Amino acid sequence: MIELKDVTKKYENFKAVDNLSLHVNNGELLVILGPSGCGKSTTLRLMNKMTERTSGSIKIKDKDIDSFKEEDLRKGIGYVIQSIGLFPHMNVWKNIATVPQLLGWEKERIDKRVHELLLLVGLEPDKHQKKKPSQLSGGEAQRVGVARALASDPDIILMDEPFGAVDPINRLRLQKEFRQIQRRLQKTVVFVTHDIDEAILLGDRICIMNHGKVVSVDTPENVVLNSSDEFVDSFFKGEGILTILSRKDVEDYKEDIPSDGIELSKSATLKEALAHMLLTGEDRVSVEGGSISFNRILQVVGRDINEKD
Ligand SMILES: Nc1ncnc2c1ncn2[C@@H]1O[C@H](COP(=O)(O)OP(=O)(O)OP(=O)(O)O)[C@@H](O)[C@H]1O
Ligand SMILES: [Mg+2]
Repeated sequence: MIELKDVTKKYENFKAVDNLSLHVNNGELLVILGPSGCGKSTTLRLMNKMTERTSGSIKIKDKDIDSFKEEDLRKGIGYVIQSIGLFPHMNVWKNIATVPQLLGWEKERIDKRVHELLLLVGLEPDKHQKKKPSQLSGGEAQRVGVARALASDPDIILMDEPFGAVDPINRLRLQKEFRQIQRRLQKTVVFVTHDIDEAILLGDRICIMNHGKVVSVDTPENVVLNSSDEFVDSFFKGEGILTILSRKDVEDYKEDIPSDGIELSKSATLKEALAHMLLTGEDRVSVEGGSISFNRILQVVGRDINEKD
């Protein structure tokens, strides 16, 4: 779907992106993770020509990006920029409606779309759609930015730290919602973050960058549990395993063994089950239709460790 080959971006003699090759599969959510200044935003901007590469080639849907008209390229790719980038003179409605209007949608269809997107990102349409960006909080503005990128229902979405300014509760809700939408709609998403938990929770694969280069691209499980790279390991500091547990639903691992006590909800994750065991000192917790034990959780992680062999 998106293919970067030997791509370099130089600013004078400094290589912000250094001979980088990367393939993003159709329908996958690829997270780019790495320290500040390693070239994440630049890599993203090269994909929709907000920044011109110095050398190398980039293809989208098997076509060289130079063969698209720039405006067609941008209309076809949703983009959430790191600094939010709402148009300051337009209200929230107009900001979200920009691309649908360019595409010639009817007013009624745009109204409906703006309304559903505002609800999706947790903003009340009546309260917010007439506001200018200067009348929004940072987190609200960021959510409008996400709604704007989704507005015309593009196949490809580039997101640069889209939830960076959102408070932790709304952030987790947005992350979960976004993951579900993505699974359902199978968009091709490139998602930049420095938040390790966010990367593990959302990514089908994680691309770790350092100094303008790709260090590793793999599934969250493999990156966290099976990496032999020192830089990658130093990034996760052994804590990624807890987030791996938060990607897995108890429902998929429960055993057919009845158990007393508090029952976890059907949508609970293995991380919640483990937290419950640590709080209560019990080594088994009941779930609708069965239960899950501490050993079972160890096994699940162990199976991931062994998957490589
Ligand atoms: N227009 C520019 N001129 C000169 N240097 C630039 C320019 N834009 C980016 N850089 C440099 O390129 C490097 C990569 O920048 P980039 O914005 O891609 O980093 P990043 O990984 O997104 O960082 P962060 O996590 O802080 O957002 C940085 O060292 C930055 O200073
Ligand atoms: Mg950046």
